[in-house]
Amino acid sequence: MSSNQKNIVIALDGPAASGKSTIAQIIAQKLNFLYIDSGAMYRAFTWKMMQNNINIDNNTELNELINNTHLVLKKGFSIKVYVDSLDITTKIRDPEIDRNISIVAKNDLIRKALVKLQRSYQKNYNIVMDGRDIGTIVFPKANYKFYLEASIEVRAMRRFQELIAKGKEITLEKIIKEMQNRDHADFTRTIGPLKCAKDAFRIDTSELSIEQVASLVLNCIKNKGNKS
Ligand code: CDP
Repeated sequence: MSSNQKNIVIALDGPAASGKSTIAQIIAQKLNFLYIDSGAMYRAFTWKMMQNNINIDNNTELNELINNTHLVLKKGFSIKVYVDSLDITTKIRDPEIDRNISIVAKNDLIRKALVKLQRSYQKNYNIVMDGRDIGTIVFPKANYKFYLEASIEVRAMRRFQELIAKGKEITLEKIIKEMQNRDHADFTRTIGPLKCAKDAFRIDTSELSIEQVASLVLNCIKNKGNKS
């Protein structure tokens, strides 16, 4: 891969807590690419919709909200998420957002606006982007595609530990149930469903450490070379 080439896309898709964002950040740092968390965009929109009590079925209200939302992801030690200049990085990880996001993620107008924003980053950067539809819809011609998965028990335990570390009160059973609901919504929606792209490299991370997954991904990138 030539160091001064621009517009290279590494796409990582997979269900909740499959390890995408951790791996995407490591890969981006190692390769000096820009990391874009597309899930954070859907989370930010969900937050704004909840704040403004928007009726998602009213297209006029929704269009107005889309046109008047200034969404920015800022690169720092980790990504910071701003909506209309307000830092909502912590707020978007609240379980309340997880409970409401599926309605937002299946909306056609919101997906169109966010896919456009996601594609815009490729113009000036080499990027690593994670999400659900990155290798299938957002960048079907991505240079490298990965699909990460893990058992529901492992994924729920990862999320449980994350939330407990943040001082949230939640049970593992509740997380399993909510994650199954969100998986179901993600796999079955009509627009931008979660799907493994035909040409993606599939990794089950259930029994692998972060370092093992990161080196599998990096080796795959190195071995494949740059197909663009
Ligand atoms: O961190 P986690 O895997 O739980 O979720 P996320 O990547 O932050 O995504 C949160 C939700 O946003 C997902 O469950 C999807 O419903 C939605 N999403 C999407 O529809 N398309 C994407 N490209 C990324 C996220």
